[in-house]
Amino acid sequence: MIEKIKETAAFIKERFPIIPETAIILGTGLGELVNHITNQKELAYKDIPNFPISTVEGHSGKLIFGKLGTKDIMAMQGRFHFYEGYDMKQVTFPVRVMKQLGVKTLFVSNAAGGMNPTFKVGDLMVIRDHINLFPEHPLHGKNYNELGPRFPDMSEAYSKRLIKKAFEIAEKNNIYLQQGVYVGTQGPTFETPAEYKYFKIIGGDAVGMSTVPEVIVARHSDMEVFAISVITDLGVEGIVEKASHEEVQKAAALAQPKMTLIMKELVEQF
Ligand code: HPA
Repeated sequence: MIEKIKETAAFIKERFPIIPETAIILGTGLGELVNHITNQKELAYKDIPNFPISTVEGHSGKLIFGKLGTKDIMAMQGRFHFYEGYDMKQVTFPVRVMKQLGVKTLFVSNAAGGMNPTFKVGDLMVIRDHINLFPEHPLHGKNYNELGPRFPDMSEAYSKRLIKKAFEIAEKNNIYLQQGVYVGTQGPTFETPAEYKYFKIIGGDAVGMSTVPEVIVARHSDMEVFAISVITDLGVEGIVEKASHEEVQKAAALAQPKMTLIMKELVEQF
């Protein structure tokens, strides 16, 4: 595994001599951030050795290098989901490569269903913590000490410092932010009403099918993490409505400007 990570990182380094310390996974709700990246250079996933290829509708797969404001960044447009059939090592491979390239901070976005009764569709929820319910763990198997410790600490998976900054930015721009616990599940089914209820009872505020694997690997390799969910549908008792991919995309698109502003300012300021 380490050889593959190094091979891929070397391939990228050869093409992009300036390697940023900041990476962004452009999940749902953050696609438009691409339009704010200047001096863009791209690498399609299909042209990168050892990279999996993204298949899901609404996600095109490439790495983008450039500047966000004054900061050098790299961005993943399109991510790999467990439900697509990738194993967890594949899902998290790009994060390993980021670390190998020298990335120190990872920003992530996603779409999620809200269980917290104070949430509305279109709200943004800063992820304060997560509950990992994926059936396979990204660190399962042999541990390479070169990559990180066997038993990584997860007491502050999501950087308190970055969360604080995000709230300051939101306040200054009159953006209302929620915060809460993200439950990571395998999908691809949305939840039954009983499942939403269960996830709420165990301490979740929102549920989604991504992010947790990437964050675990980022923390394993000691990267600082900030993540935010756009609430695209509600799993609140009594008002569980039909959820669909189209609705998720529509709600995410509406919340996009807020999400973009916060991420952009946060990346520039931290
Ligand atoms: N459940 C799981 N994943 C999701 C949801 C949901 O309700 N909404 C967007 N992604």
